[in-house]
Amino acid sequence: MPRGRVVTGAAMAISAVALSACGSQTAVQSSDNLAQGKQMFVAKCGACHTLARAGTKGSVGPNLDEAFRESISEGMGRSVVRGVVAEQIKIPSRLGKMPPNLVRGDDVTDVAAYVASTAAMTGKDTGVVGDAVKAAGAGKPAVEAGGTLEIDADPTGQLAYVADKASATAGAITIKMGNKSTVQHDIAITGNGVSGKGPVVGQGGTSEFKLSDLPAGTYTYFCTLPGHRAAGMQGTLTVK
Ligand code: HEC
Repeated sequence: MPRGRVVTGAAMAISAVALSACGSQTAVQSSDNLAQGKQMFVAKCGACHTLARAGTKGSVGPNLDEAFRESISEGMGRSVVRGVVAEQIKIPSRLGKMPPNLVRGDDVTDVAAYVASTAAMTGKDTGVVGDAVKAAGAGKPAVEAGGTLEIDADPTGQLAYVADKASATAGAITIKMGNKSTVQHDIAITGNGVSGKGPVVGQGGTSEFKLSDLPAGTYTYFCTLPGHRAAGMQGTLTVK
């Protein structure tokens, strides 16, 4: 029953924070940089957590809209959510898979403020916060050149490639993906009885593989890491 345990963990953290904060804080303070908090959340947290306003769809950890929806609707202040998130970043449960200190310093308060002010909220971010992270996969289609098709991972950390469409000429091809994000990824293709896959690479790495003869047709390219394809890290390759 992992869900129940997680909720209990959050509830315990809430009472500790509520006591220490004396209810004097608000979810967002004037020194917070919400646009930066959103960028850091997408880069460092979104691969594991869903948060609708941030557009992230990770499924390794709890959905953060769901994690706080009930408590907020029952009157828990968003300032308390802020404290819970900041605590969780510094001291995640030892049983869980969340590494401590994924962000540090001011980034902790910015991320906590962003999550606290957006969890379980409908609608869209507006202004500079709305523009802080580009929509995933919306880049220009990738086009094969000289036998190489490069489709990079989204550099901001979203579970997507820079483009969700690609085209190539039939024949020998090298498919490669540069990864500038802090999240691990790979690239694979499947279709027409053909499949191929490059290695999983972290930040700064390139995942690459060759196919000696890719026939004309339609293929899907996708990341094989758990949850990434389901979150939208895939696209369509048309070969002519
Ligand atoms: C590698 C995956 C991973 C990453 C990256 C990650 N988390 Fe988590 N997170 C988890 C898991 C798994 C849990 C549940 C178990 C636990 O508490 O460790 C969790 C729990 C949480 C909780 C508690 C939710 C609840 O219901 O109690 C919060 C809040 C949270 N994470 C926020 C963040 C923030 C903010 C970041 C980025 C700084 C982040 N997480 C990055 C995996 C991750």
